[in-house]
Amino acid sequence: MPSITKKKSVAGALHREVGFLDLFAILAPDWPLYQQAFERVTRNTAFIRGAECQRFEEAFAEWALPGSQVLGCANGTDALRLAIRALGLKAGDEAIVPAMTFFATVEPLVELGLVPRLVDVEEGTWLMDLKQLERAVGPKTKLIVPVHLYGQSPQMDRIREVADGHNCFVLEDAAQAQGALWKGKPVGYWGDVATFSFFPGKNLGAFGDAGALLSKNADIVARARALSNHGGAQKYQHDEFGYNSRLDNLQAAFLNIKLNRIDEWNAKRRQVALWYSQYLADIPYLSLPVENINAESVYHLYVVLVEDRPRFQEFLAKRGVQTGVHYPKAIHQQPAVLRYFGDLGNFPNAEKVAAHGVSLPMGPTLSEEDVFYVSEVIREYYEAK
Ligand SMILES: Cc1ncc(COP(=O)(O)O)c(C=O)c1O
Repeated sequence: MPSITKKKSVAGALHREVGFLDLFAILAPDWPLYQQAFERVTRNTAFIRGAECQRFEEAFAEWALPGSQVLGCANGTDALRLAIRALGLKAGDEAIVPAMTFFATVEPLVELGLVPRLVDVEEGTWLMDLKQLERAVGPKTKLIVPVHLYGQSPQMDRIREVADGHNCFVLEDAAQAQGALWKGKPVGYWGDVATFSFFPGKNLGAFGDAGALLSKNADIVARARALSNHGGAQKYQHDEFGYNSRLDNLQAAFLNIKLNRIDEWNAKRRQVALWYSQYLADIPYLSLPVENINAESVYHLYVVLVEDRPRFQEFLAKRGVQTGVHYPKAIHQQPAVLRYFGDLGNFPNAEKVAAHGVSLPMGPTLSEEDVFYVSEVIREYYEAK
């Protein structure tokens, strides 16, 4: 057991501040490099899709899935939108999506007129349930959207088989999972296309919004590239109606620096998860996240399930431990979905994680002492009950 600095709180109990994610601590070691990158790009004044952007697209492809191609774009939601368009999907096509994910997974689908068909998630991993998928897939299905939620890949080989059996595309929403593996293969390997978010809090985060799309199919990336630039591969020639969704050169310059650290950060996140699972293992009433034996999660989040969430979070907050909820409503419970589609049914596991899930502090700068402290506070919560 690690020894922790014993600073007493007013109540006399052990006290330590453990933030949910310390973004500045992540940036601090490379601060001079970010400053140099800022100088370089701003003096050059090539702000949109310049050399840094091209370098990032190549380096990210090489790191994420050698042989693939990458398009940098404005954010992860746009990456999904561009992917759907680049696959040639159209209004009325049915897309299967897990009922527990961030809202942005379904937003572009609905906006483009596709019909989302929700399936429940499996207990423990909270990822798309294969049996539910097999039951839901049918002649109208044109797309399956597995989400690598909390940093873990769902059963991608089986999802691919289901998709092939029904002649539909697989779009991997890997916003939370840069570097995750399924059966030793990275995100994008099983899907036709994969999308990423570089929102600042993600495992690989920019200094603002940014995203990317990856595919082994060069035609998909080329079409997405044109769509992201007002529908034209050539300047001032617009072959279709597209978007303005380009990766800023400055964001790309920062991402190029951070890409050198992502393996180290992901490994540390896995270490933090291991510490949690060791220190929390013997606490009854607490459900720990399950990592599938075939998966290598990059632990974007570490989500436990507790009975009385408000009380649990308040107890931890009073002892300096910040927590989060991802996400307090499943997709079918969101007001926009209810208003637009009405009642889409019951998805008990998605509802369960929405009602009881708590994200504990997680990030590459947490120490073993931090994790031990959080675990001791949780132990105290259950002992005090
Ligand atoms: C699962 C999932 N999909 C999509 C997105 C959208 O990414 P962005 O915020 O970059 O638009 C996010 C990011 O929060 C996400 O977590």
